[in-house]
Amino acid sequence: MKNYINISDIENIPKTIKEAIKLKENPFQDKTLGKHKTLIMLFFNSSLRTRLSTEKAAKNLGMDVMILNISNAWSLEYEDGTIMNLNTAEHVKEAAKVISQYGDIIAIRAFPSLKEKVKDESEYVLKNFQKYATVPVINMESATAHPLQALADAITIEELKMADNPKVVLSWAPHPKALPQAVANSFVSMMKELQVDFSITHPKGYELNSAVTKDVAVNYNQPEALKDADFVYAKNWSSYQEYGQVLSTDENWKITSEKLGTAKFMHCLPVRRNVVVEDNVLDGKNSIVIDQANNRTFAAQIVLKKILEELKSIENG
Ligand code: CP
Repeated sequence: MKNYINISDIENIPKTIKEAIKLKENPFQDKTLGKHKTLIMLFFNSSLRTRLSTEKAAKNLGMDVMILNISNAWSLEYEDGTIMNLNTAEHVKEAAKVISQYGDIIAIRAFPSLKEKVKDESEYVLKNFQKYATVPVINMESATAHPLQALADAITIEELKMADNPKVVLSWAPHPKALPQAVANSFVSMMKELQVDFSITHPKGYELNSAVTKDVAVNYNQPEALKDADFVYAKNWSSYQEYGQVLSTDENWKITSEKLGTAKFMHCLPVRRNVVVEDNVLDGKNSIVIDQANNRTFAAQIVLKKILEELKSIENG
């Protein structure tokens, strides 16, 4: 693997999921693979799970880790030919090349503005780092995708499924703030690659990018969609068509134990209790959100392992 920008960078998804599950038996089985290699993590936005699980994964592989919260660095310019006499102090051209000298892999978290759709969709932060960095780049959640989360979600479903073709439903849930579509996009893309009976439920106006949801069933009736589900993945996202708008906070879309039935409850976290989902669901035996968060380590570890193996094969000619 050269970079991990989207789940399409995984050559064989079912095989990779199985390899990640195998890592859990002995997380230190490749503890010398990353010796004398450094992962640099750049955070343009907050994180709990991604930051800690990716660092843990890197350390399991014997890597060194450096973390930079970009708010503590110089503000970056991304446009070509700009006269930089306003707020930006350093161009991504220099920054990416300089960081590439200090680290062997760069991982980046950069959320969308949710104001400028075209600019967000251009993935200008991630793509410019990829363009100018001289080392591999990993997406730790960008404007439109969260592929490490989606891989962890797939590992979790594989581990906990009780049938060969489980029914998986992605349900929009209310939230007071405008949130990105990234988690939902990557989860949809991942489910399309797996042997699952997959559908999406959301209120009208919350249709995701049709390029992502092509061929996926959408049901606007949430209780009907959730009936007999094996896995219910709750997530809020802001409107894609009316870009970044909160069109509804209808609490009837909150996940309750009644609607969940016997399904396992999934969420990427952080989650707002009693807004997105009732306490008794999160505290109940069908919640697998902690398992999902645990699998973030092994999703990151299998990705780092594959990139390190590629680097080694280049070094060895
Ligand atoms: N799920 C997830 O990416 O969590 P963090 O935002 O805390 O990293």
